[in-house]
Amino acid sequence: MELKGKSKPTNNEVREIRKDHFLPTAFLYYKNPLQLIKGKGCYVYDEKGNEYLDAIGGIVCISAGHNHPKIQESLIEMIKDDEIQHTSTIYMNHHAAELAEKIISEAPKGLDKCSFTNSGSEANELAFMAARHATGETMVINLRHGYHGGTSGTLANCGHNTWRFKAQPVASTTSALEPYCYRCPFNQKPESCHLECAKNVETTIQTSTHGKIAAFIAEPVMGVGGVITPPDEYFHEVTKIVHNYGGKYISDEVQTGSGRCGNSFFLTKELKIDADIVTTAKGFGNGAPIGAVLMKSNIAESMSGKLYFNTFAGDPYQARQALTTMEIIEEEKLIQNAKEMGDYLLSGLKDLMKKYEIIGDVRGRGLLIGIELVKDRKTKEYAKDEANELMEFTKERGLLLGKGGLFGNIIRIAPPLSINKKQAEKILSVLDESFLTLSNKK
Ligand SMILES: Cc1ncc(COP(=O)(O)O)c(C=O)c1O
Repeated sequence: MELKGKSKPTNNEVREIRKDHFLPTAFLYYKNPLQLIKGKGCYVYDEKGNEYLDAIGGIVCISAGHNHPKIQESLIEMIKDDEIQHTSTIYMNHHAAELAEKIISEAPKGLDKCSFTNSGSEANELAFMAARHATGETMVINLRHGYHGGTSGTLANCGHNTWRFKAQPVASTTSALEPYCYRCPFNQKPESCHLECAKNVETTIQTSTHGKIAAFIAEPVMGVGGVITPPDEYFHEVTKIVHNYGGKYISDEVQTGSGRCGNSFFLTKELKIDADIVTTAKGFGNGAPIGAVLMKSNIAESMSGKLYFNTFAGDPYQARQALTTMEIIEEEKLIQNAKEMGDYLLSGLKDLMKKYEIIGDVRGRGLLIGIELVKDRKTKEYAKDEANELMEFTKERGLLLGKGGLFGNIIRIAPPLSINKKQAEKILSVLDESFLTLSNKK
């Protein structure tokens, strides 16, 4: 792809500027970090025009594909028409209203009120506030290894020391043990377990709260934690427990939403989780900064008389991009594609697992997939350095992947939902070659 335009800072210059002025908390992937300049469909391009297959979809944000022509057209049309660039909820705007109708039509039954936000973190913050306001209780139960955002309230519910800051207040939250079958905290095997992890939510409430809670929050697939994929029954057990103790069930679909997991726009709906609140962001806007909180009417009604204002939430351009993304997902049957391509990738990865000892586990739903790397299948020692090396090898071969897990040993695959069979084959063949290079190095 040809790169046009005036001369831009070189990669080294950008790196220097970052070193001088960015907070040290900003991190980069790869020994020679990439600068991505352009994107089209499932591909992204660096400043030299080198092409990469984007198998992490920005950072799990690209559902319809990069720069989809329909999104381009709708935004260009708005700019050409001098559509207002900013207006807030204190004025009416049809884009946000249309989007509200559309997203509610995809929501699990009973979730018929919504509010837009600028990010997933903000969506979860509003979910916590709503649950606490509705119940008059403060305690939120989260899961170890969970991730819900980078704001104060969401970090208080973060199950990773790496993301938390010193002196980060974590009042009014407590953690239940993770439903992590590959590393079961109860030393059980999926075949023989009795959902001890679900029962642990009750024990946690009984031992770490006064017996009533505001909310329980969980991702239906724990993305940042390394695509931890709990069994379906886990959610039904836990919803009952949460409701018995007076709490609201918050399903964090920031990563899993927008059809990424196949079958349904929201995984909560597919799994029939009786959630009281669902949050989403990332793929919802196909890269535009927009999130949403959906909730049951009774929770929303409990907030009557209070004010909630968020300057940019539901801005016309973001709302239009999200709405157009939803239309594309529907028209191009991308949810079905996510299921088919996801199943294809999972089965191909399971074959690779037979060849490479370093692959300890392969898991996920639809196009949200994790490959857990271990130094030894018996001890399950975390293969963190190997995960970094593998990422370098795949990058050299034109494939971008993500990484996750508390110890950084889990490769994450989350390409645009529009990925085709040839591109999925490419992911598998590059991984095969890269695993071979990795094993030959030893
Ligand atoms: C499950 C989940 N919830 C919330 C967030 C926070 O979203 P954002 O970074 O848009 O604030 C993330 C981000 O990675 C996420 O994965």
